Amino acid sequence: PKRMRVHHLREAKERGERLTMLTAYDAVTARIFDEAGIDLLLVGDSIGNTMHAHTTTLPVTVDDLIPATRAVARVAQRALVVVDLPFGSYEAGPEQALATGVRLLKETGAAAVKLEGGQRVVPQIRALTEAGIPVFGHLGYTPQSENLLGGPRVQGRGDEAAERLSADAVAIVDAGAVAVVLEMVPAPVAARVTEVLPVPTIGIGAGAECDGQVLVWVDMAGMSDWSPRFAKRFGEVGAALSAAASAYADEVRAGTFPDAAHSFDR
Ligand code: KIV
Ligand code: NA
Repeated sequence: PKRMRVHHLREAKERGERLTMLTAYDAVTARIFDEAGIDLLLVGDSIGNTMHAHTTTLPVTVDDLIPATRAVARVAQRALVVVDLPFGSYEAGPEQALATGVRLLKETGAAAVKLEGGQRVVPQIRALTEAGIPVFGHLGYTPQSENLLGGPRVQGRGDEAAERLSADAVAIVDAGAVAVVLEMVPAPVAARVTEVLPVPTIGIGAGAECDGQVLVWVDMAGMSDWSPRFAKRFGEVGAALSAAASAYADEVRAGTFPDAAHSFDR
């Protein structure tokens, strides 16, 4: 299949084709999702919560993301690989953002970066874009600002907040953003932003009118007991994996594994 490139994002929007995005943090899942036809693989800083047992994304570093992104980019045949700029790696200004973006693309093979924020990151988005690095924006609930936002809460409720969100979206797209993730935004507000922008919106907890959807894969696949309300469980992979581990342990304890078929007799 033909590789997804940045120009396909606008084309998909123009044709009314919805984009699919999932997080991936390793080669095992990236290969599965790529072969399943997922368009965009995000090596998100949600790796902190999902894989490194942190309670927030704040401790995640560029050094955490590099080996994960390298693995995802090595196996992705079709999907476009996007990597998050983690907390503390771009806020200081365009020079810091550019240094981080260049390092990530140089050392991982990712094709684009994503960063959080509106007007405040316009200089960063411009610098990255001018250097040839495509940028995904991220508005609404932005987990790196969870201390300021007071935890995971819907953003853009009410006319004034919706207007501010819209203005942020327009500003980052004017600066060069090739797509905008909208997280925990009322569906009608996300629909309005989607209508206004020339580039795709990718929603997570932002309703059905976005141009695409993204989910954290462990939530999508049912890997844990808890998942956020907006994250539908499309499978019970955690239960399947648990059953496989128990069956293995039972057979080892019973002495029935390995049998002749799984042993070398000479
Ligand atoms: O890190 C992440 O998984 C994300 C998605 C939720 C959009 O930023
Ligand atoms: Na993220």
